[in-house]
Amino acid sequence: EKGGWSSFMAKEISEEPEAVAKTILGRVHDGLVDLPEVTALGAEVLRGIDRVLIIACGTAAYAGMVGKYAIEQWARIPVDVELAHEFRYREPVLSPNTLVVSISQSGETMDTLMAVKYARERGARTLSICNTQGATIPRESDAVVYTHAGPEVAVASTKAFVAQIAATYLLGLQLGQVRGTLSDDEARGLVAELQEVPEKLRTALGVGERIKDLAHWMANTRSVLFLGRHVGYPVALEGALKLKELAYIHAEGFAAGELKHGPIALIEPGQVVFVLVPSPRDPRSLHSKVVSNIQEIRARGARVIAIAEQGDAAVLPYADEVIRIPLASPFFEPMLAVVPLHYFGMELAAAKGLDVDQPRNLAKSVTVE
Ligand code: M6R
Repeated sequence: EKGGWSSFMAKEISEEPEAVAKTILGRVHDGLVDLPEVTALGAEVLRGIDRVLIIACGTAAYAGMVGKYAIEQWARIPVDVELAHEFRYREPVLSPNTLVVSISQSGETMDTLMAVKYARERGARTLSICNTQGATIPRESDAVVYTHAGPEVAVASTKAFVAQIAATYLLGLQLGQVRGTLSDDEARGLVAELQEVPEKLRTALGVGERIKDLAHWMANTRSVLFLGRHVGYPVALEGALKLKELAYIHAEGFAAGELKHGPIALIEPGQVVFVLVPSPRDPRSLHSKVVSNIQEIRARGARVIAIAEQGDAAVLPYADEVIRIPLASPFFEPMLAVVPLHYFGMELAAAKGLDVDQPRNLAKSVTVE
């Protein structure tokens, strides 16, 4: 079933473009998002939502964190992301105007399931983003938007992650359209960019060999840090999680803007740091802020691996390695920037002779609390 691939994980990373393409397929009409699963809740209900609460675990929660930025921006609804296991033990404030969005590849994760049940019992509306048809979480929810990444076998979630981000974007766009916070022109422009992601992902997959070399010389590395800002922050967390679970090395993701508030003390000569560099075309000048972060850690001896868009020359003088991703506007970078990190987790595990598909102590679907 691996079809010539060295592992399911390798196969599933190669399927990231299709995972996004199939998740969008049939959900765009006349250039606008059309999610009957969501609109069936009723325009009044959708206009009345005053809060979105995303609940998920692990990689799915990081997809939710990326989705938060987009949903807030496009639908102008405050969005919180909460780890599912934290949810029902603190009497969360819920109302019928709260939309609780669960994200789960398997649809069977116990922590997430219990949080959904809890939210529903307390009168919130529940929507499930799920990759498995007919799984328990979608059955327990008021509405479901399926991701169509196809079955994911490797314990490390990869293609589901990009599909989950695409699904949260479809949701954000649909809410923005219904609530009138996006004009049709704006929505069409964003939809068009989303539709370009699969092709860009195909290009992004080209970094595989380069990452393999990088992982090879890093097989003895004991600690890796990841820095990102805005939507790059959850991508940094995702990169770190992959190294922990696959290569069993200590890895942390930090918000780049937090460096001076503590984590920079960790930087010593030789410390490897991956930095997700926002596009220099970003109007909010986040690019220059992250480039100065790179200068700060470089000055303290960090070995910097920058993930930056094609043609961004500003990072060249300060980075030891630059991994290129195709041009995309800020919201569409995470799905591309995560590709080298997914490869890196896999290749570092392989370089260490570890089982890529079945890391120790982990199960694909965590059905106990
Ligand atoms: O099936 P789910 O999406 O609910 O699973 C959630 C997490 O257990 C899962 O994403 C886990 O963090 C992965 N092993 C990460 O690669």
